[in-house]
Order: sequence, then structure tokens, then C-alpha cells
Amino acid sequence: MRRKSSICIAGGGSTFTPGIVLMLLENQDRFPIKRITLYDNNAERQEKLAKACAIMMKEKAPEIEFNYTTDPETAFTGIDFVMAHIRVGLYAMRELDEKIPLKYGVVGQETCGPGGIAYGMRSIGPVIEIADYMEKYSPDAWLLNYSNPAAIVAEATRRLRPGKRIINICDMPVGLETTMATILGLQSRKEMEIRYYGLNHFGWWTSIKDKDGNDLMPKLKEHISQYGYAVNTEDFQHKDASWQETYTKAKDVFALDPNTLPSTYLKYYLYPDYVVKHSDPNYTRANEVMDGREKTVFGQAAKIIENGTMKGNEFAVGVHASFIVDLACAIAFNTKERMLLIVENNGAIENFDPTAMVEIPCIVGKDGPEPLAMGKIPTFQRGLMTEQACVEKLVVEAWIEGSYQKLWQAITLSKTVPSASVAKQILDDLIEANKDYWPTLK
Ligand code: NAD
Ligand code: G6P
Ligand code: MN
Repeated sequence: MRRKSSICIAGGGSTFTPGIVLMLLENQDRFPIKRITLYDNNAERQEKLAKACAIMMKEKAPEIEFNYTTDPETAFTGIDFVMAHIRVGLYAMRELDEKIPLKYGVVGQETCGPGGIAYGMRSIGPVIEIADYMEKYSPDAWLLNYSNPAAIVAEATRRLRPGKRIINICDMPVGLETTMATILGLQSRKEMEIRYYGLNHFGWWTSIKDKDGNDLMPKLKEHISQYGYAVNTEDFQHKDASWQETYTKAKDVFALDPNTLPSTYLKYYLYPDYVVKHSDPNYTRANEVMDGREKTVFGQAAKIIENGTMKGNEFAVGVHASFIVDLACAIAFNTKERMLLIVENNGAIENFDPTAMVEIPCIVGKDGPEPLAMGKIPTFQRGLMTEQACVEKLVVEAWIEGSYQKLWQAITLSKTVPSASVAKQILDDLIEANKDYWPTLK
């Protein structure tokens, strides 16, 4: 019988928590669980979801222990995995990350451009704090982090906690692979074998084959050149209109390099003028999420608590949830599954900075990820990635050193920003907005 794991979900009050818990329950046969603990630093927000999760646990899996807490010692003692999805500053700060750059005609996005940089400056400290709680109370555990911006957080963990059991992950590639499987008429993305390289939210597929080695790229290219990744989807997160627009715009990103299939996020770097023109500076994605996913999830939780039962109010499970179970399973049971993770390059992309955190396929077993060699990459991608990886490194250096200069350089270097003077104006506004969260910059 498989050994049971104990899990701490950090960011217990996240809109994604019920989906993760549900996904864990649905996978008991391959990933059995002893205990699930929710941890958050916002007791009130967490409790609204935790009480509903407690009802769900009692109905679906009474044998699994369940608790929730804001006390690190209770949360991090005796666990095997921390699954972290915290949002430092909540949606209120996301809204400012998106709206401040837009004021200056620059892309306003959660993880890309100045907004992503601002969010990175808020996330580094608290994610490191979680890694340290884990180290203190459960030194053999693994931190599976998907708190954003994952690229900057990953670089921070590389710099500040090297060699620790921390893996940074993103669901965008698996989400898109699920879409590709739909386009191809396959049951599951796992029927495909892929090659891919890039940075987080900044990557390209170079090969998609079936298990017999047949090339599936021609059929995908035909669809993507016309419709981007747009398909009828049930994916609860990505079916919103703004996400569908992003999926469609991928056709113009694809046009730039028809040899590869692109990540949707590249639109922010390659078509920033288009993105700004199609943004409403008074109503951004943060507003859409607050009016949409947050209301839906917290509304459902309130009904479950009121009714005292889950019946009639099933939570939705997002695509990234199953990916996290795959990852935990691979480590716990040495499955050697092939997965896309964010890891130190270290030669895997031959002609690229060995110290950059890249997103590439890895074989995952009980000692963590073993990156696969992706060879040399073309000049276009290498140029874009070099610039973006340097932005990410500068942000982490700025955070460590408390350096205004380096953060100004980081924002200036971002492909989304037209000049150093615009960068400075945005930076000065962001400093004011983030004074409760950022280190003091000198
Ligand atoms: P949310 O605001 O609903 O939830 C985040 C929770 O984190 C809140 O309850 C908040 O109180 C808590 N939190 C904030 N700071 C904390 C700290 N220092 N310690 C403990 N808890 C803390 O946000 P959401 O939209 O559900 O997203 C959660 C996170 O997951 C975000 O970072 C989001 O970007 C990320 N995410 C990443 C991926 C990926 O592909 N990597 C996919 C989906 C979501
Ligand atoms: C994708 C990305 C995540 C990001 C999320 C944002 O899944 O991979 O990194 O957090 O989208 O979605 P939202 O619905 O909050 O805009
Ligand atoms: Mn992501």
C-alpha cells in the first residue's frame, strides 16, 4: 500500500484552494493523504473557505484529517508537501499592478511587465518565509510553489535558498496542452510527447508527437494559424472572455515564428501596443476576477456552510490541480514522470545563461527534477529570453540590495516599456502604492 502524505496548502484563502482540495480527494488511489492543513495569514478570508472545505471533507473523505490555521508551527509540522499559492497584497494590489502602468500607456498585467515586477517585489519575502517555516518544522518536506510571479519567485529561491527542496511550477503549459489535445481530438494531453523551452510565461513548443512518434504539429499549426488556441473549453479559469481573447491572439504570436507554438503570454511582449489599446484602464483583469471567480467561489462556500452540505454546490477543479498531484506523486513514489518545471538552466539550453531559471521538461523522481537537454535555441528566442531573464535577475537583485537603481533598470529593460523616463514614472508610482510590502529602496 502507498504511504500516505500530509499536505499543507499555503494561501488557504485562495480561490484555487477548494479546487485543489477536491482534486486531492479525487486522486486518493494514486496519492493517498493522511492530513490536509490550510494555512493563511488572513484568518477571516481563509475561514470562509475552510469551513466549506471541512464540510466537503466530512462528506467525501471522513478518514482524512483536516484543519486550518494561521499558526506556522501548527501548519508546517509533520508535513510532506507544502503547496503554496499565496497572493501578497490580494486582488486590491493586483488591481494597482495592472492600472498604474496603463496610466502611462504600458501593459498592465499580473505577471508581465511593470505589474509583474511590482508583484515580484511583494512575493519574494513571504515565499521565502514559507520555505523557512517548512525547513524549520518539516525539513524533509518539499515546497511546490505556484505563487506568482513564478519566474521572479523562482529566481529568488535560486539566489536565496539554493539547494533546498523547492520546485516552482506553472499551469499555463498544461492548460494549453489540454487545449491542444482538444484540437487534436485526443482524450488527454498525456497522449502527447512534447519538447518545449523558455522562461515561465515566456516559452515555445518545438515538437508535439503522439506515443507512436507521429508528428502532430501540422494539424496544430493549421488550427493555431487561424484561431490561435481558441476552442470550446470547459476550463473554468480560462473560459472568461479576456482569456479567450488571449487564446485567439496567439495566432499573431505564432505568425512571428511558425516553426514553434507559443505561450499565450508572449502577446504582452510582442504586441504591447495592441494589448494597451484593448485594455480598459478602469476595469482590468483584477476587476473581472473579483466580480467573477472570487464572488463565485466565496458565494459557493457560503452556501455550503449555510446548507451544512456540499450537495448542489460542487466546486470546480482547475487544470493546474491535477498537475500538482502528478508532481507530488512523482516525488512521493519516484514515478519518473516527464513534466515542465521551472529549474536552473545549467546547460539544458546550451546557448543560454546557465544560471537563468528556465521552463523545460524534466524527469521527476524522489530526488526532484532532472532537467532534459533542449539543445541550442534560435537567435530570436535567445534574444527575447536573454532580455527577460535579465529583467527577472535585476528585480531579485533590487530586492536583495534594496536598490532603486536596479529596479529602474529592470523596468526599463522590460520589452513592454518604451523608455527609461516612462519606467521611472511608473516605478515612482509603484513605490508609493507598495510601501507596505516592498523593502525600502535607496
Ligand atoms: P487569492 O487572493 O484568492 O488567494 C491568495 C491567498 O494568499 C489569500 O487568502 C491571502 O490571504 C493569502 N496570503 C497572502 N499573503 C500570504 C502570506 N504571506 N502567508 C500566507 N498566506 C498569504 O489569489 P488567487 O487568485 O486564488 O491566486 C493565488 C496565487 O496562485 C496567486 O499568486 C496566483 O498568481 C497563483 N496562481 C498561479 C498559477 C501558476 O500557473 N503558477 C496558477 C493559478 C494561480
Ligand atoms: C494562468 C497562469 C497563472 C495565472 C493565471 C491567472 O493559469 O499560468 O500563472 O495566475 O492564469 O489567471 P487569472 O484568472 O487570475 O487572471
Ligand atoms: Mn503561470
